[in-house]
Amino acid sequence: MGATGAPPLVAGNWKLHGSLASAAALTAAVAAGTRDAPGVEVVVCPTFAHLQCAADHLDGALKLGAQDLSDRAEGAFTGEVSGAMLVELGCSHVIVGHSERRQLRGEDDALVAAKTRAALDAGLTPLVCVGETADERAGGRARAVVGAQLDALGDAAARGIVVAYEPVWAIGAGRSAAPGEVGEMHAFVRERLAARGAAARVVYGGSVKPDNMNALLECDGVDGFLIGGASLDAAAFCQICRAVADFRK
Ligand code: PGA
Repeated sequence: MGATGAPPLVAGNWKLHGSLASAAALTAAVAAGTRDAPGVEVVVCPTFAHLQCAADHLDGALKLGAQDLSDRAEGAFTGEVSGAMLVELGCSHVIVGHSERRQLRGEDDALVAAKTRAALDAGLTPLVCVGETADERAGGRARAVVGAQLDALGDAAARGIVVAYEPVWAIGAGRSAAPGEVGEMHAFVRERLAARGAAARVVYGGSVKPDNMNALLECDGVDGFLIGGASLDAAAFCQICRAVADFRK
């Protein structure tokens, strides 16, 4: 695990899943199942539609995050949701620049940077996702791509973000990046941030599960996880949170 002084963080990205009933049940189960994971910042990120319901079922230290936000504070922007609105709903965190938004919704580095600034201005902690595709890695461009994604954040990188290194090819793939690849890229992210005078927690995402969490925790510089599929299973997600807590002891 790396050390920035801040606690490790485990966030569950529920993506486009669930109902009011399942969001309530999952939030309550995660709150109950992570009571014995002290020292870990645990965040659940439901859809916008389920944020209020999840907020109503938060308990203990469990925190709430959104999966996206607008780069705008207010105005004629149909369909957008601002950072201030998320704060009002009880969010403390927000995922920004997830590869599904970069790839499926055309979000470029400039928009991701604007959203990161909007989140920080609203008082939210942005979990800024970076990562290369399989082709980019095969072409030897993983560092160049991730470096450019980080550089695009500009001064926002030094304002209290969390970086989620999520190689696109490992997301939803069932197989995470190899520990060596994770350790190398996390070291690179830290170096690139340090070159701008910034330090951030760097969490890993991409097919994190109970059966690979220990190998990933052993990697240098892994400050926690951003978890998709396994976060919909309360038992698996809580098991990972407890493993992170135990690893810190
Ligand atoms: P996964 O998703 O854990 O299902 O691979 C991770 C993510 O998309 O953040």
